Amino acid sequence: MTHIVPEAMPVGPQKRVLVISYSQTGQLAAITERLLEPLRADPGIVVQVETLAPLPDFPFPWSISRFFDAFPESAHLVPPALAPLGLSGDEAFDLVILPYQVWFLAPSQPITAFLKHPLAAKLLHGKPVVTVIACRNMWLLAQEKMKGMLADVGAHLIDNVVLTDRAPTMATLITAPAWLLTGKRRPIPGLPVAGVSQNDTERSIRFGRALRDALRDGREKTRTSLLGGLAAVEANPRLLVSERAATRSFYLWGKLLRAAGDPGATARKPLLLLYVLFLITLILTIVPLSLLFQALLRPFLTQRLACLKQRFEQPSGSGTERLSQYDF
Ligand SMILES: Cc1cc2nc3c(=O)[nH]c(=O)nc-3n(C[C@H](O)[C@H](O)[C@H](O)COP(=O)(O)O)c2cc1C
Repeated sequence: MTHIVPEAMPVGPQKRVLVISYSQTGQLAAITERLLEPLRADPGIVVQVETLAPLPDFPFPWSISRFFDAFPESAHLVPPALAPLGLSGDEAFDLVILPYQVWFLAPSQPITAFLKHPLAAKLLHGKPVVTVIACRNMWLLAQEKMKGMLADVGAHLIDNVVLTDRAPTMATLITAPAWLLTGKRRPIPGLPVAGVSQNDTERSIRFGRALRDALRDGREKTRTSLLGGLAAVEANPRLLVSERAATRSFYLWGKLLRAAGDPGATARKPLLLLYVLFLITLILTIVPLSLLFQALLRPFLTQRLACLKQRFEQPSGSGTERLSQYDF
């Protein structure tokens, strides 16, 4: 007797994928949804999305004072309160997708809150994790902090996808804050539209296709990269000098501000004003100067920069050899 298995029926046990979600403008949510399309369409895969709700929620658009007042806790990885999660911690997932945005060169506060939540260790311990970053273009040190928090909960980082604003750095230093403070993607006529392009957002479906195939084959158990050869990440180590300088200043000034009070405290306001003036000077001097120096020293720095690029692009890499298979 022959058994006819309908094509839509899963053959083996279903694979369960946990996705953590938080997005203010909808940019990261749109990228995540596009990536999830192939997984959702597969009857052998169950996708569970947990949307984070900080208490109180962060505003969008931001006021200038709220925006800068968020840097001390972001830089020090101090978690805000979260509304109760819809998970018990006893669920068993085969794969965890962790999309996050960067706030002040650190993972955004809502994602930090999730990773420091007692349930995170229960849910993520021993699990393969794929991080998906969507930010302006400075994410190198945020991902180092993310690696630390993942290690703290015993998770295994197997892939990292990064989508950034492709406009020149100096332009994004104007367009990104203008977007976040006005809510408009092109608040300044003549300057580029802020954020990750529509094309890059749509093409993130390739990662979902590759993850679906890997889950079908059980390759998530190998704890090795599943998204190699898909141009998952392009690191720009020239920004590392600026990232290091800014991280140090966020950390030190953040300590001072935290000593002055909690977010919103009146005693923080004069210090914040002083810091913003300092930061603007830093951005207008260190960023262009370090980029200029590196351009002048290019012949001597080539090898060092190539090593750093390769290191920060781990574990997924910037290779393109599987694009023809998944990017169509
Ligand atoms: C408070 C704050 C700080 C940010 N700091 C950075 C940063 O350090 N580096 C960066 O590349 N992008 C930074 N961004 C941009 C975000 O990473 C992100 O691209 C943007 O907020 C849109 O994300 P969304 O999906 O939550 O809408 C910052 C955004 C906010 C709101």
